[in-house]
This record gives sequence, C-alpha cells and structure tokens, in this order.
Amino acid sequence: MAQIKVAIVGVGNCAKSFVEGVGFYTKNSSDEVGLMHPEIGGYRPSDINVVAAFDIDERKVGKKLHEAIRATPNRTVKIADPLESNVMVQRGPTHDSVIEEMREHFIHESKEPPVDVAEVLKTSGAEIVVSYLPTGSDKATYAYAEAALAANCSFINCMPTPIAKDQSWRKRFEEKGLVLMGDDIKSQLGATILNRVLLSLLKMRGIKVTKSEQVNYGGNADHFNLHYRPEAKEASKEDALTSVLSEGDAKPSARMIYTEKNYDHKQAKIKITGEIWGHIPISIDLALEDEDSPNSAGVVIDAIRAAKALIDNGEHAKAGEACSFLMKSPPVQYSDEKALERFRKVIGLAT
Ligand SMILES: NC(=O)c1ccc[n+]([C@@H]2O[C@H](COP(=O)([O-])OP(=O)(O)OC[C@H]3O[C@@H](n4cnc5c(N)ncnc54)[C@H](O)[C@@H]3O)[C@@H](O)[C@H]2O)c1
Repeated sequence: MAQIKVAIVGVGNCAKSFVEGVGFYTKNSSDEVGLMHPEIGGYRPSDINVVAAFDIDERKVGKKLHEAIRATPNRTVKIADPLESNVMVQRGPTHDSVIEEMREHFIHESKEPPVDVAEVLKTSGAEIVVSYLPTGSDKATYAYAEAALAANCSFINCMPTPIAKDQSWRKRFEEKGLVLMGDDIKSQLGATILNRVLLSLLKMRGIKVTKSEQVNYGGNADHFNLHYRPEAKEASKEDALTSVLSEGDAKPSARMIYTEKNYDHKQAKIKITGEIWGHIPISIDLALEDEDSPNSAGVVIDAIRAAKALIDNGEHAKAGEACSFLMKSPPVQYSDEKALERFRKVIGLAT
C-alpha cells in the first residue's frame, strides 16, 4: 500500500502519543487492540509516514522527530520506542500561539527565524497537515492552513479554532481536491463522548435534563494553557453536548481546571441530574480517569486515513460528514451512532 505522508504542527504530548503509537502498531502489525478501525481505505497505521514537523520551542526545533517528542515539557506516558526518523523539527512561525504565562514552564521560544512553511511542505512531499497547536492560536491556525493550501496539502485541525466549521474555508480546500477536517479532535473515550452518550440515554428514556456539569482536571501544557484560554475549548465541548439535548433541558457546562500533580493524567467528573416520571429526580455522578494524549491519538489515526481515503476515491467533498464522528465541533452534529454510520459510509466501510 502507498504511504500517507503527514506533516505535524506542534510536537507536544499529543504528537508524542501519535508518533509512538504509529511505531508500536508498525512493529506489532497483528495487534489491533485500541484501534477503532484497523484498516481504512486499505491503509493501516503502519502506512503513515511523518515527513515534516514544526514547533517553536528551542528544546524541539532542530532535533530529529523521535528525539523531539521526548523533549521537556512533553511527559505523557510512553507507548513504545518510536521509529527512528530523519525528519528534523523545523522552526514554525509563532503568531498568537504563546501566552506570556506559558513561557516560564512550558514554552521556551526558539530564537531562530521561522521557516517558510509552504516551501517545507512542498519539499517534504507532505499530503496531510495535522495541527496540534495550543488552543486559542487562531492566527497561527489560519496561517498554517494557508500554507497547507499553498502546498496542496489537506489539513486536519485537532484543536478548537473554528476553521472546518467555516464553509468558506472548507470550500477552498474542496476546490483543490483536498480535505479540511476539524474542529477539535474528539478523544477515543474522553469526557465529551461519555457525557454525550449519557445525555442521549436520558433523552431516549424521556427524561428532562435539569443539570449537566463536566469538570476536567489535568496538569499538562494543554491544561495550563486552557487555564488562561478556556473559552474555545469550553465552547467546543458545550456545543457537542448541547447538540444531543432538547429545548427545555438545562444548558450543559464544561470546565477545565489545571492541577499540576496530574501531569497528563486527566480526571473528568460528570454530574447529571434529571426528572423522570412524575418529575421525580434522578442523578448520575461519575468520574473518568485517562491519559489525555494517547486518547486523542486513537482518533487522529482514523482522521488521517479517512482524509486520504476520501481523496483517493474522489470523495473529498464529503469530508464534513466524516468529521461528525471524529471531532467535537464538526460542521454538522449527529448522534454518536448516526455519526459512526455516516463516517463508515463515506469512507467505504460496511455499516
Ligand atoms: N486528548 C487530548 O489531549 C486532546 C483532545 C482534543 C484536542 N486536543 C488539542 O490538541 C492540541 C495539542 O495538545 P497537546 O496536549 O499536544 O499540547 P502541547 O502543549 O503538549 O503541544 C503543543 C505543541 O505546539 C507547539 N507550538 C506552539 N506554538 C506553535 C506554533 N506556532 N507552531 C508550531 N508549533 C507550536 C508547542 O511548543 C508544543 O510543542 C491542543 O490544542 C489541545 O486542546 C487535545
């Protein structure tokens, strides 16, 4: 099978889990544990080849990818030794991606000048750009997306800046036979999908939702950034939750709290109350514990292969349909069952 040539923007914890996971499933090709779809469009995880990577941190820029993913402050759990890579992490443009509070502990900005991203993408032969930029980096997201367009690359937006949601941006990629997917990757089994499934169950059983609160505790760089820039992430989560509720239900809330000791370990507390028959109250209180970054990589692996399969089949205009299953804030929200059905249909898997 041909390889899928990918460029990574942001060599942080999510990139570390992604690169280590690709190495793991390449070396253990019969192991399908943790894969939602072992094969998409004929592609297995081992068919993904990272050909370019961008970051702005001096501890990562100029290093080979397999070394940069282990550089401080990345500290998510190790999946496996990554495959050795000759790809050097390039100094990308910063734009609005660093807030002052991040500089001391989490980002040491490189003094090197930024490269021309479009030129690097062209030279590398990249087909798909995966963006793991910090939440709140709107200008940086648009700049990398412009570079992707200029280099004829598709773009997968794993963070909440609303770009795939924007029809005019999607159209620009579609017109070139490319795909734009986003926004904000939905973790394999994270608080958002769990909260959505619970709320859908209440609705299926005729229950009025009187409260839906989700509080996420984490201690990685992403959570530190979210402590100062929570708006886009909270809006993205609330959008995903509101879409399964009915008029008259309580408005759901989702909060992000930075807890240093958690590192990449995330705890999510979900509290839901409702009214059943005769307005009698009912309540659910539960906690989800997970490692944040591997949880996103388990879905990015499907997004990349789905993007490639859609392009191969001339179905790039259907990328928006595929996003409903993969993203928290896709162009169109469906129930999770319907989203999976549509995803499998557009990428040519039996439903
Ligand atoms: N489960 C999850 O972890 C999950 C789920 C959904 C979405 N996300 C989103 O994915 C994104 C990445 O998460 P993470 O945990 O890897 O964050 P991270 O902070 O560990 O990594 C971000 C990386 O981007 C780099 N960076 C900053 N500005 C840059 C620029 N202009 N150009 C290139 N690189 C730049 C940083 O130096 C860092 O290495 C976040 O926006 C997060 O909200 C994560």
